[in-house]
Amino acid sequence: MKKVYIKTYGCQMNVYDSERILEALDKEGFTETKDSDESDLVIFNTCHIREKAAEKLYSDIGRLKKQNNTKKIVVAGCVAQAEDSEIIRRMPDVDMVIGPQTYHKLPGLVSKLDKKKKIIETDFPIENKFNLLARRKRLEKKPTAFLTIQEGCDKFCTFCVVPYTRGAEYSRTTAELIEEAKSLVDQGVVELTLLGQNVNAYHGESLTNSTSNLARLIYELSKISGIKRLRYTTNHPNDVNDELICAHRDIEKLMPYMHLPIQSGSNKILKSMNRKHNVEKYIDIIDKIRSAKKGIAISSDFIVGFPGESDKDFEDTLDLVKKIKFAQAFSFNYSPRPGTPSADYEVQIPQATKSERLNQLQGLLKEQQFQFNNQFIGKTVKILIEKVGKEGCQLVGRTPHLQSVFFEDIRKVYKIGEFADIKINSVKVNNLSGELIENS
Ligand code: SAH
Ligand code: SF4
Ligand code: F3S
Repeated sequence: MKKVYIKTYGCQMNVYDSERILEALDKEGFTETKDSDESDLVIFNTCHIREKAAEKLYSDIGRLKKQNNTKKIVVAGCVAQAEDSEIIRRMPDVDMVIGPQTYHKLPGLVSKLDKKKKIIETDFPIENKFNLLARRKRLEKKPTAFLTIQEGCDKFCTFCVVPYTRGAEYSRTTAELIEEAKSLVDQGVVELTLLGQNVNAYHGESLTNSTSNLARLIYELSKISGIKRLRYTTNHPNDVNDELICAHRDIEKLMPYMHLPIQSGSNKILKSMNRKHNVEKYIDIIDKIRSAKKGIAISSDFIVGFPGESDKDFEDTLDLVKKIKFAQAFSFNYSPRPGTPSADYEVQIPQATKSERLNQLQGLLKEQQFQFNNQFIGKTVKILIEKVGKEGCQLVGRTPHLQSVFFEDIRKVYKIGEFADIKINSVKVNNLSGELIENS
């Protein structure tokens, strides 16, 4: 048996891709190892979104000891797409560079790696990789799964590499997604998270050969009885339509959570980011969705220190956060990415200012996350048990609002993949804990 070690960086779409790469390699006789030293094949499935993410790859490759000549090193993912042959120039130990749209070829190419020749596969192929990959055969039995429904992006925000690394927007057909969802359900999945860089721009072919949208796809998937919970991420404000908002009101299996990145609370900055929406539009969407689904958790992404961001612009971001009250959010220092327009904008913000602003924003967001969690004290929530905790008979699950919950199952009656009712008795910023309510 040959052994493969894979390290995944970046977003959930990369997590999905890594899972499929491992499934495909399993058919070729590779088993996964968590120890890179004992592997025959090392794959880095990379992310190019911020400078730190990309630089991490080079330090990881450097640290990897190529103890013998037979160990092969593959760089896959978004850095592979963006930096191409430059990777092999910088790191001559790398044997193959393969982009996110060509990884279905990886297993076939690995067998050719014995030769001295390096392989570079970064074209955007005409064929659809999803149709060329084998049927799903999960190697790890888990109750939750990601399902990529849409890839790429046509929006070209001025800071972002995704349109270049993942290519143009592409949506899979509803029929193909139903088939994959059913096969995941057959393997024990009860919760599906639909993925896309612009998931709500989904426009795949419907079952009646017309153009579908995300709300209709969710409706079709909700008919699969084995699926108990549906989620989706990540959205663009301009692609939120009334149907999606109504789906939150009408489809019980659709969880009360929406990740809706805004990036900045300043219209001037949003314009310079080419976001094509303003703060007022964002607030309007949130108002609508909150009236359709009371208590829904709203999360977001923020970039601080975008070129030209003044103290006033940053204050506007803080004001927006105070107004919306997020359940959770991700925030980042602006990172100038080669080849993106904003990397060449004149007024770049000093690192120290960025870090100071990020600290302030993160402090506020943490406070809001705690407040969101705090409203659950004394309430009973239904959680899907996802894993065993570190202590004794502790189990960990997720609420409909995506919070992690710890509880003790002293009688050891619950299993991973089951639902349990938990009465919340304490909360932190990142998780809740409570006690089991035994119904029977
Ligand atoms: N499609 C999603 C975001 C995908 S990238 C959207 O439209 O919002 C995930 C997040 O990374 C972005 O929301 C943004 O907050 C962050 N990001 C992207 N490029 C960045 C950059 N150059 N510097 C810092 N953060 C960045
Ligand atoms: Fe990047 Fe999202 Fe903008 Fe597309 S919409 S360019 S993925 S930030
Ligand atoms: Fe990173 Fe590529 Fe995802 S750049 S965030 S891995 S789409």
